[in-house]
Amino acid sequence: MYTANKDRYETMQYKRCGKSGLLLPRISLGLWQNFGGKVPLETSREMVCAAFDAGITHFDLANNYGPPAGSAEETFGKLLKQDLRPYRDEMVISTKAGYTMWPGPYGDWGSRKYMLSSLDQSLKRMGLDYVDIFYHHRPDPQTPMEESMDALATALRQGKCLYVGLSNYDANQTKQAVGILKQMGVHCLIHQPRYSMFDRWVENGLYDVLKEEGVGAIAFSPLAQGLLTSRYFNGIPADSRAGGKSVSLDAHRVTPEKVEKAKKLDQLAQARGQSLAQMALAWVLEKEQTTSVIIGASKVSQIKENLDALNNLVFSADELSEIDRILGD
Ligand SMILES: NC(=O)c1ccc[n+]([C@@H]2O[C@H](COP(=O)([O-])OP(=O)(O)OC[C@H]3O[C@@H](n4cnc5c(N)ncnc54)[C@H](OP(=O)(O)O)[C@@H]3O)[C@@H](O)[C@H]2O)c1
Repeated sequence: MYTANKDRYETMQYKRCGKSGLLLPRISLGLWQNFGGKVPLETSREMVCAAFDAGITHFDLANNYGPPAGSAEETFGKLLKQDLRPYRDEMVISTKAGYTMWPGPYGDWGSRKYMLSSLDQSLKRMGLDYVDIFYHHRPDPQTPMEESMDALATALRQGKCLYVGLSNYDANQTKQAVGILKQMGVHCLIHQPRYSMFDRWVENGLYDVLKEEGVGAIAFSPLAQGLLTSRYFNGIPADSRAGGKSVSLDAHRVTPEKVEKAKKLDQLAQARGQSLAQMALAWVLEKEQTTSVIIGASKVSQIKENLDALNNLVFSADELSEIDRILGD
């Protein structure tokens, strides 16, 4: 039986999510790719427990995480049951609906029918009465936004989630969705965009909207799925995401240009006394609007290394412009 490290709140830093009262750890753990049914339960357990032992209170899931889809929630449900149940009130657990989950017209996108059925399925897989945050995973161009927001508000009123969030909505869509929720008396807690040194789209309006609206931001893929680490400095390891069967990162996306930039960034990181992974996380966390970053990991050692990013979150103006120069080359 697992007993959590008693010093787990000593080193983690927490930040309030937008204008809400909810504090999130600066580093959160996502269960997208490395916690599915094909990964031994003990491996997932080691990573989740190591994270919780280090003060990572927030675990990010979605209906479709695995592979296969649904299996990451099943894994997390097993870990809750066998290890983490006594700590439920110390955890912020999120899930999402928005991508393909089951066949037919009701298993995808943003209808009320899909989103609420999906949430019920997620709760069942995890053995929970409620999640802390329920997200619409992506905007649905075919469904009125009012309907998707109404599904979020309904989940909240039913007590099946404590807060609601948006993911992958652009700046205009976010403004609109937050406004609709407001009319329903619901505050949008958080937005989950992709954000890293290699993908800076949030800087073109989204972060401004979130600031205006008091919505927190939690960045996903802050390491560009591993490209902003030393993982690919000497080719593509067989046990890496790009070396495996991941649909989101294949060997073709590990381009010589990206690796070259990563190596230059690594030199700057070393001068700061950090690894590239640590500097990449610090760079996202340094932005005022960023509440937290969600890291993925395939090993406990990666989680431990990444946590040490918190030891240096400050950048000089020269360092920031050097990073811009390398990225712009
Ligand atoms: N809302 C959305 O649409 C959406 C989409 C994607 C992700 N997310 C969320 O964001 C989370 C994180 O996404 P992500 O996994 O792409 O994040 P990421 O942190 O950018 O990439 C994680 C991968 O980077 C590698 N890595 C991590 N730390 C490392 C280190 N110190 N040294 C070397 N390699 C390291 C590992 O790759 P290897 O596996 O090769 O070891 C790991 O699996 C997901 O789990 C999910 O919760 C949300």
